[in-house]
Amino acid sequence: MKVHVVGGGPAGLYFASLMKKAWPSTRVTVFERNRPDDTFGFGVVFSDQTLDTFEAHDRESYRAIIGHFAYWDDIEIHFRGTSHRVGGNGFCGCSRATLLKILGRRARSLGVEVQYQTEVSPLNPKILDADLVVAADGIHSRLRDAFAATFKPSVDLRPNLFSWMGSTRPFDAFTFFFRETEHGIFIAHCYQYEPRRSTWIIETDPETFARAGLDRLDEAASARYVEGLFADELEGHRLITNRSIWRNFPVIRCERWVADNFVLIGDAKATAHFSIGSGTKLAMEDGIALYEAFRDTGGRDVAAALGRFEAARRDEVEKTQHSADVSLVWFEHVDRFWNMDPTRFAFGLMTRSKAITYDNLALRAPEFVDEVDAAVACEVRALGPLPPPLAGEGSPLRSPPPLAGEASSLPFPPPIAREGSSLSSPPPLAGEGRVGAPMFQPFRLRSLMLANRVVVSPMCQYSAQDGTPDDWHLVHYGSRAIGGAGLMFTEMTDVSKDARISPGCAGMYDDAHEAAWKRIVDFVHARSRTKFCLQLGHAGRKGATRLMWEGIDEPLPEGAWPIVSASPLPYFPHSAVPREMTRADMEAVIADFVAATKRGERAGFDMLELHAAHGYLLASFISPLTNRRCDRYGGTLENRLRFPLEVFRAMRAAWPREKPMSVRISATDWADGGLTGDDAVEVARAFARAGCDLIDVSTGQTVADAEPVYGRMFQTPFSDQIRNEASLATMCVGAITTADQVNTILAAGRADLVALARPHLVDPYFTMKAAAWYDAPAIHCPPQYLAGKEQIFRNSTRDRDELLDLRRKAKPKAHRDTWKEAAE
Ligand SMILES: Cc1cc2nc3c(=O)[nH]c(=O)nc-3n(C[C@H](O)[C@H](O)[C@H](O)COP(=O)(O)OP(=O)(O)OC[C@H]3O[C@@H](n4cnc5c(N)ncnc54)[C@H](O)[C@@H]3O)c2cc1C
Ligand SMILES: Cc1cc2nc3c(=O)[nH]c(=O)nc-3n(C[C@H](O)[C@H](O)[C@H](O)COP(=O)(O)O)c2cc1C
Repeated sequence: MKVHVVGGGPAGLYFASLMKKAWPSTRVTVFERNRPDDTFGFGVVFSDQTLDTFEAHDRESYRAIIGHFAYWDDIEIHFRGTSHRVGGNGFCGCSRATLLKILGRRARSLGVEVQYQTEVSPLNPKILDADLVVAADGIHSRLRDAFAATFKPSVDLRPNLFSWMGSTRPFDAFTFFFRETEHGIFIAHCYQYEPRRSTWIIETDPETFARAGLDRLDEAASARYVEGLFADELEGHRLITNRSIWRNFPVIRCERWVADNFVLIGDAKATAHFSIGSGTKLAMEDGIALYEAFRDTGGRDVAAALGRFEAARRDEVEKTQHSADVSLVWFEHVDRFWNMDPTRFAFGLMTRSKAITYDNLALRAPEFVDEVDAAVACEVRALGPLPPPLAGEGSPLRSPPPLAGEASSLPFPPPIAREGSSLSSPPPLAGEGRVGAPMFQPFRLRSLMLANRVVVSPMCQYSAQDGTPDDWHLVHYGSRAIGGAGLMFTEMTDVSKDARISPGCAGMYDDAHEAAWKRIVDFVHARSRTKFCLQLGHAGRKGATRLMWEGIDEPLPEGAWPIVSASPLPYFPHSAVPREMTRADMEAVIADFVAATKRGERAGFDMLELHAAHGYLLASFISPLTNRRCDRYGGTLENRLRFPLEVFRAMRAAWPREKPMSVRISATDWADGGLTGDDAVEVARAFARAGCDLIDVSTGQTVADAEPVYGRMFQTPFSDQIRNEASLATMCVGAITTADQVNTILAAGRADLVALARPHLVDPYFTMKAAAWYDAPAIHCPPQYLAGKEQIFRNSTRDRDELLDLRRKAKPKAHRDTWKEAAE
């Protein structure tokens, strides 16, 4: 078999070696335009895990690599005069030039023909004349571009500018420096890769770049400028340049990687941002995956092997690219986090790409996680004591009556998950004893104190009779409250008969509804510490539809009622066309919301939410995709918000001042021309100005042809943006399934409360179980269930210790010792 590899970078050379080693009779030729000793680039980074893979595939090159790398375990973060060191990361740096020499030498020793100084033209018939052609020609791949119609590449040029430089300053940790200047923020990503050599990738946003005049400086002058910025950090060392041009990072994706006997690998097919240090790793692992595809299909069947390669590898590459994308976005928006507590800033940086979580860090760097817990607790303490009662309103802070079966109760749930503390004894700080996990910190909204940060998200039950909740609802809400969440939402409860989504939806427009809800609220208050929030809504154009399990959003075949919306646009083409609301309709709807608010207060709810998300009536006003009005309720965002704000203000005026209110919004429509995260910040600010205490951040469901990007915690970035750009309290929701994720989100300051919907459907005891896992015994448990609580707390301690032990054993081996051996 004849194999041509275009590009003698890490991907091409590694693949060529593995193929030749496995099938020595295969003729493998690598074409490389550079010379073998060209020194382009500085260091490359590999994790312990990647080194394991290299060791398994080619021990010779692995040993040569580890003989030449610098190893570190820690990540160090320098931010606003503070520094944090987080251990247990296991990475090594290696010179790119050395790596290429090692791989080139290894390939040649195996019999690969490496033709250096050979520029390949994509249409050269001699190159294409092989059984297999591998395009490993890097980020600017000429082969990919020549066959763009087949591979369908896309390039997303990111806004930030970066330059790859080097220095002689030594480092014993992967180090981030954040520096604020009069022009803006600069970031340096630094690591050592061989004795007396470190990589310095300098990054900044385009505005800062222009203000600093860097667009007018040449390579040498810009290096001198950066030396001035990071003079302290360089500790007297100079910066070294080597084609250190400022550029924008291109995120490259290809719809296809394979065409006939032609395949793209490495940067040519997909890039991963340098902030997760995975470019070279991804390239070499592509080489491995391509070789494995040949191995698994017998080694001779090119079509089968290439099919296998793309099918098996795509998921992994897309996952890494997704992590890299999330990471690069964090750096692009670093100004959002600038005023954060430095410990939480460091935690946010460590967990930015979702690969590292609270639990991972607790395993690797327990002292750091203790410091994070203390920082979260400290912010709770900084909120100060509960507010005094409002004049003439009685004390909102009165102790609740003892719960059934309990002799007495604390005035409020303890603020931290340790015994012996209460609001009058604030959470201990670092050094004053252990602090609980962030999810068990209390949270206050006006005079409402939540015992923890877990929330049962609103979930329609489609089980009410003429709007009246029944025993199903009593058991459903009752059991979830006993499960221990700090806050629970009702399902969307409609403000009139015609405001319902389906015939099974709950309402709050009748005395019977009020009485039925009061029975449930009373139970929740008597038997649990969970606070209860009433979500009020109007279905708008998504009204008169079937029960969820009979066809969600599908119009009722019979018995439909008239529906209204901002504009006469049906949800699906086959949905009923809503009537455009008149001013009189608006006034009637406002009156319905106010009447339902008053009923909610009489029923005893602790909190009230206005549902302005998911394409229902108020959402249909806010989104430009569903609001085509030409009056003062359509057009600009200010106009589109006018009616939802009128509703909110009227409700706020009817709802007791000491009780909080939230608004659920769809922070993006996931559709061209629709709402974006930036719009959501403005929407949130407008509701906050009207007296909203918490923004409940959901997304989408506005238009039927939206294209949401799902994934773990997929809506959390919108909560992060609103919370940290607008300085508002937020609740996030969406594909959050573990207590570890809840803690990660809270500790990083991406939300103040975390709601879970589907997980609570099958597990009302999510919070109780998490309390046992994180040893937070202060969680309330009704006396009837105390024996169960005691058992799960006891077992969880043992299970946790066993799991930690297993995880420690499963950790990739540290290559530090092998490195020392090889170096000796
Ligand atoms: C400016 C810059 C600096 C970087 N510095 C570093 C760094 O210091 N550390 C790090 O980890 N990552 C660095 N990267 C990223 C890193 O280079 C890649 O992620 C990784 O090397 C990808 O490997 P590859 O084999 O796919 O491509 P590359 O390493 O880019 O290799 C492609 C090879 O193909 C050759 N080639 C291209 N076209 C032709 C042609 N027509 N004919 C013949 N040969 C051709 C090129 O000369 C090159 O040697 C840098 C990227 C850029 C853009
Ligand atoms: C059965 C069901 C009913 C829902 N009903 C409502 C509702 O009444 N009001 C609302 O705002 N969101 C509703 N949602 C959306 C959830 O509150 C939540 O935002 C969504 O399910 C994403 O969270 P998850 O991934 O934890 O399930 C519902 C979700 C489910 C699964």
